Amino acid sequence: MPVGIGLCGLGTVGRGTVEVLGRNAETLSQRCSYGLEIVQVGSRSPRPEVDLGTIPFTQDIFAVAANPAVDILVELIGGVEPARELILTAIANGKQVVTANKALIASCGDELFAAAKARGVTLAYEAAVAGGIPIIKALREGLSANRIRWLAGIINGTSNFILSEMRDKGREFADVLVEAQMLGYAEADPSLDVDGTDAAHKLVILAALAFGMPLRLDAVHVEGIRDIQPDDVRYAGELGYRIKHLGIARRNANGIELRVHPTLVPERSLMAQVHGALNAVMVRGDAVGATLYCGPGAGAEPTASAVIADILDIARRLGGGGRDAIPALGVERSGEIPPVLDIADAESAHYLRVSALDRPGVLSQLAQILSARGISIEAIIQKEPAPGQDHVPLILLTNRTRESEVRAAIAAIEELDSVAGAVVHLRKEALNDV
Ligand SMILES: NC(=O)c1ccc[n+]([C@@H]2O[C@H](COP(=O)([O-])OP(=O)(O)OC[C@H]3O[C@@H](n4cnc5c(N)ncnc54)[C@H](OP(=O)(O)O)[C@@H]3O)[C@@H](O)[C@H]2O)c1
Repeated sequence: MPVGIGLCGLGTVGRGTVEVLGRNAETLSQRCSYGLEIVQVGSRSPRPEVDLGTIPFTQDIFAVAANPAVDILVELIGGVEPARELILTAIANGKQVVTANKALIASCGDELFAAAKARGVTLAYEAAVAGGIPIIKALREGLSANRIRWLAGIINGTSNFILSEMRDKGREFADVLVEAQMLGYAEADPSLDVDGTDAAHKLVILAALAFGMPLRLDAVHVEGIRDIQPDDVRYAGELGYRIKHLGIARRNANGIELRVHPTLVPERSLMAQVHGALNAVMVRGDAVGATLYCGPGAGAEPTASAVIADILDIARRLGGGGRDAIPALGVERSGEIPPVLDIADAESAHYLRVSALDRPGVLSQLAQILSARGISIEAIIQKEPAPGQDHVPLILLTNRTRESEVRAAIAAIEELDSVAGAVVHLRKEALNDV
């Protein structure tokens, strides 16, 4: 008997999953001895926009979770409720579960994994992070010998597309956002993407896997890309950097940094070459060194590729009678769980843009404020004043420093009579340290 799949949600990813399962049926059946069969599909709209052939369709997704012919329930409806209830019901009914739902895993994953473990079933989630890139399998299997030092990822394609366009064409954020919406890269409400929430969802899943810690969505420092100015993109370029929106999880001596924000990365680094809507995740393990995983982070078939890989993994085990080849995230913890650090305790290098009066002595005032806090300056650019202006932009790159010291320095700089307005502050990551 083939392994029975019950698929809930026939949107972008659901339709892609039906298409690829149909198109590659023969190859997939060679890869798992019992074969795969979609035995029921559930979704809200009465007329599915994909040819289901003879596959039974229902608008009641809970009927799929109760169907005795369903071995694996695939949740592709998105959002927290009723997806959470659907998955808990499927688990209670002894179904294996596959999901692409990062918002759900990031916010309720600990509860869901505990329920799956108690019932002896698997909850697999490869598609929840970075779409088609098999980063979950890389962390869970390929890198499992390593102590992970840090990982950093471009994990939101919309933000990367907007920053790439701003850099390549010198365009404003708002202008590129409208184009991203027209091209279908950004939703009508783009806030989840451009304000960093979607990247935060993915980062906590990666961090939980890398560091064996609980899913701490509440502890992530999140900044989006709305305030990035074309001037800062240009100045970063003059200094040899590109601005990328990164999710960073790093183990330092005192705890774990979890942060999502625009970041300067060296323009020759691999991460700087990741353009448009692509995603990439760099993982630094103590044994393997730095590794980079890059590819499409969204879209119907790339995401279906990850969903089906999870289905196959589970189907192989069901066929072989094995259990738990896919360990549950966050429930197999041992030893002390290090604290998640406040952003004030995070360490990075910094980019500061100061609007300063064009007169002698200002630079030395800035240097004194920074050096009093142990911050050294790695590079400076000073621009000519624009016609009719008495303030000039002064751009400073600092060494790696605690965030709290830089914030204190910025507050002191903003107090100076010779400085106008707020200091623009971005972090800079070399991505080559251990
Ligand atoms: N799109 C991507 O590229 C991508 C990439 C990675 C991960 N994901 C994740 O994959 C999941 C699905 O994303 P998507 O882009 O395919 O979403 P989508 O296009 O909005 O599709 C969602 C589907 O689920 C149905 N649905 C929603 N709520 C339902 C309910 N209460 N009962 C029954 N059916 C319901 C919708 O029906 P209606 O058509 O009637 O609304 C629609 O068919 C999300 O968790 C998303 O975060 C998506």
